Amino acid sequence: MYYIGIDLGTSALKLLLMDEKGDILRTVTEDYPLFFPHPGWSEQAPEDWIRALESGMPKLLEGVDASKVRGIGAGGQMHGLVVTEKDGRVLRPAILWNDGRTGKETAYLNTVIGTEKLSACTANIAFAGFTAPKLLWMKENEPELFARIDKIFLPKDYINYYLTGVHATDPSDASGMLLFDVEHRTWSEEMLSVCGVRKEQMARVFESYERIGTLLPEVAKRFGLPEDVFVVAGAGDNAAAAIGTGTVGEGACNISLGTSGTIFITSDHFRKDPQNALHAFAHADGGYHLMGCMLSAASANKWLVEDIFGTNDYAAEQKDITEEDLGRNHVFFLPYLMGERSPINDVNARGTFTGITMDTARKDLTQAVLEGVAFAMRDSLEVARAQGIPVTRSKICGGGAKSALWRTIFANVMNIPLDVPASEQGPGQGGAMLAMVADGVFRDVQEACAALVHVVDTVEPTPALVARYEQQYGKFARIYPAMKNLFPQLL
Ligand code: XUL
Repeated sequence: MYYIGIDLGTSALKLLLMDEKGDILRTVTEDYPLFFPHPGWSEQAPEDWIRALESGMPKLLEGVDASKVRGIGAGGQMHGLVVTEKDGRVLRPAILWNDGRTGKETAYLNTVIGTEKLSACTANIAFAGFTAPKLLWMKENEPELFARIDKIFLPKDYINYYLTGVHATDPSDASGMLLFDVEHRTWSEEMLSVCGVRKEQMARVFESYERIGTLLPEVAKRFGLPEDVFVVAGAGDNAAAAIGTGTVGEGACNISLGTSGTIFITSDHFRKDPQNALHAFAHADGGYHLMGCMLSAASANKWLVEDIFGTNDYAAEQKDITEEDLGRNHVFFLPYLMGERSPINDVNARGTFTGITMDTARKDLTQAVLEGVAFAMRDSLEVARAQGIPVTRSKICGGGAKSALWRTIFANVMNIPLDVPASEQGPGQGGAMLAMVADGVFRDVQEACAALVHVVDTVEPTPALVARYEQQYGKFARIYPAMKNLFPQLL
């Protein structure tokens, strides 16, 4: 039997084909553009996602006995606003998770509606990338389009709608809308009314591992798949990636270094950060998690290497950075290239190099970026630690985690061992595993993870390096507070 995993990422759609033993037989990646129509805005065309799916699926299935495909599960970039009108057409480009246009709406929600009420209704407060402020932005700036909205989707739910015709979502992804009562895993009527939307416009909520329907006949025909292939509700990409690394149940942690950087801490019961600096979201295993999300992680390194240095040889940029250099850099980098979400919640924050001197070399800048991302994620870890949440080890995944140097930096900056799972394939892997659970191959998500996820390597922190990074982190932690009030004046 085969299962298809879909990862609807920010830079590409990745498909994978998994057998019932969890072996990944093939992967296909289809890129699509990201648009920045104004500084700080970030959009994508949902039609491009569908085109990527339509061109990737035949490649995935070439030479495969398609009659053995049983189910499909997707993990997708979270928070994006996709709106369609009555005839099903997309009304405007999707406004993505890293879009910062909603400073005003975010402030309105947090101050006029008030963080207390938001937190009581949804377990979270407003962040610019969340979906609710985007709806308010549309209502204010595009009132005619807003009035024509028939259905509201999250990105991967739009893919599932294309596949099945069913308007569905799951609790992990819905959590990031600020329209969802996370604790009770249902829409918050109060928040829907704050944003001027009706429940009929919202998707029906299924658990991530539940089937939402089967392929539409025309879709099945196009891909040469049986019509009874089912689609599960799937998950937000972080929850799906966490499933793929076995981060489930109580007290597990996953660090993901993708375009965004996230620290994902699970619990089997609901809890929230009293300061709301960490997101309190539902997990795809039926439980919950706290999450810190940085808007620029591997993307900060990509920016430096590709856009500034003009190369794509990442290894060459890192090869001269020795163990001796670690924790001794006098250059610091604030990775706020798209503003920042967790934990500082500041759309005006910007990327900054500090401490450059005449002897600063190119590799010092590279090191500063790798370290700056790790320090900024440590900020979120500190929020969890301050609440007495013990994080004693973590999995690590995502494109950035392929760098042994970056893994070492993270293990020592965080001072925890980092487990590297075998054949880590990100959200698509979690999506396919959710489909296996829906097919009864496993009793539940925990059982699927126990059977399919294996750790192949562990990066242990070393006391000397931890001590050096402790000092460096102390310096890093002083830079943003010193610059905070300056950033809005630089716009
Ligand atoms: C999570 C978040 C990002 C996106 C990236 O809150 O905004 O991790 O899901 O795809």
